[in-house]
Amino acid sequence: MFEKLFSAPDDKIIKLMHTFSADPRADKIDLGVGVYKNKNGSTPIMHSVKKAENLLWEEQSTKSYVGLAGDFEFHDVMRDLILKNCVGEDCVAAAATPGGTGAIRQALELIKNTDPSTTVWISSPTWPNHPSIIGYLGIKQKEYRYFDYKTGCVEFENMLEDLSSAKRGDVVLLHGCCHNPTGANLKLDQWARLTEILLDGGLIPFIDIAYQGFGDGLDEDAAGVRYLVMNIPEVIIASSCSKNFGIYRERTGILMLVSHNKGDKIKNQKMLTYLNRQNYSFPPDHGARLVTMILKDPELRTSWEVELKSIQVGMLQNRESLALELCKQIGSDRFGFLAEHRGMFSLLGATEMQVDEMRNKYGIYMVSDSRMNIAALNLKAIHKLTEAIIAVKV
Ligand SMILES: Cc1ncc(COP(=O)(O)O)c(C=O)c1O
Repeated sequence: MFEKLFSAPDDKIIKLMHTFSADPRADKIDLGVGVYKNKNGSTPIMHSVKKAENLLWEEQSTKSYVGLAGDFEFHDVMRDLILKNCVGEDCVAAAATPGGTGAIRQALELIKNTDPSTTVWISSPTWPNHPSIIGYLGIKQKEYRYFDYKTGCVEFENMLEDLSSAKRGDVVLLHGCCHNPTGANLKLDQWARLTEILLDGGLIPFIDIAYQGFGDGLDEDAAGVRYLVMNIPEVIIASSCSKNFGIYRERTGILMLVSHNKGDKIKNQKMLTYLNRQNYSFPPDHGARLVTMILKDPELRTSWEVELKSIQVGMLQNRESLALELCKQIGSDRFGFLAEHRGMFSLLGATEMQVDEMRNKYGIYMVSDSRMNIAALNLKAIHKLTEAIIAVKV
């Protein structure tokens, strides 16, 4: 049978990681992979995570199975982190998943199994794994316009126009905050107008929130999600703890089904549990347990929030320094949008050829669509990047 296997496509971001590792140049700069890096270029374990791991090592007395949907305490802390008290606990069914990707995959399987004629609408552009998983599952997908490459802003009216042609029951995949790859985000009044379109069209929002706390703050980044959840009767949420807790390899995520119809919870919970059982049985526990410990313990939580804030502020400073440096060097505010964007990424707006040239001549690595990891910048890198942007005439 193996001779019949098709040749699986490369993941462009993972491929770029390998090319970067093989590049012998000492002054190369990796703006490719979506991992937070501090000023020294490393991705350290957060203090609160290290402390929680120590405590867990001391206290944990068994590694026996937990539950098919993960630990309910993890559900509680994550529901509180993302949704605060904007809906009651009796409205939310949840299951722990292997990372945010696991939650996205489970949600898409649920959508497909429930109604195979559903179309999932994705933003143009979006995180490449969205169309990839949707396509792999054979689900219909369509794009809605999202990012205006000329202005670096969300093309909101075009987004609404495209979504108004969706059919009732279709699913709209939205980034909860810190849009990947563009860094351009909806304002709260835009979330409100989008809500009207979703309600009028009978569309179901599916929110992927993978960077809560990386944009403007924990509550600010969840404001759009909370607005939607309060106003739309059915919402799907996939969340990742990989980035904001820095526990990428622990594979920690959660899928939530929010329904205003309180009678739905038991059925929805059973479905999420069943889905986990079919795919991998019990979800990973270690990362979820650390997150639960951190969010429940006031001291650990404060330490985590302080560290997360410094990461967020560091990215904001990188954005401002890069936009300022570009403005100084080219004498125009053409790249001012970089300071307005939020989260770990921005789309620079360079062509694939310009991206190749920056990599070949300057050792600056970014994804072919010109997505840059803002967290991987420092003053030296900003200087070099500015020089390269000007030289290749972006
Ligand atoms: C938009 C988006 N969603 C979800 C994820 C999932 O992250 P993970 O599966 O590592 O938790 C990522 C990771 O890069 C992402 O960028």
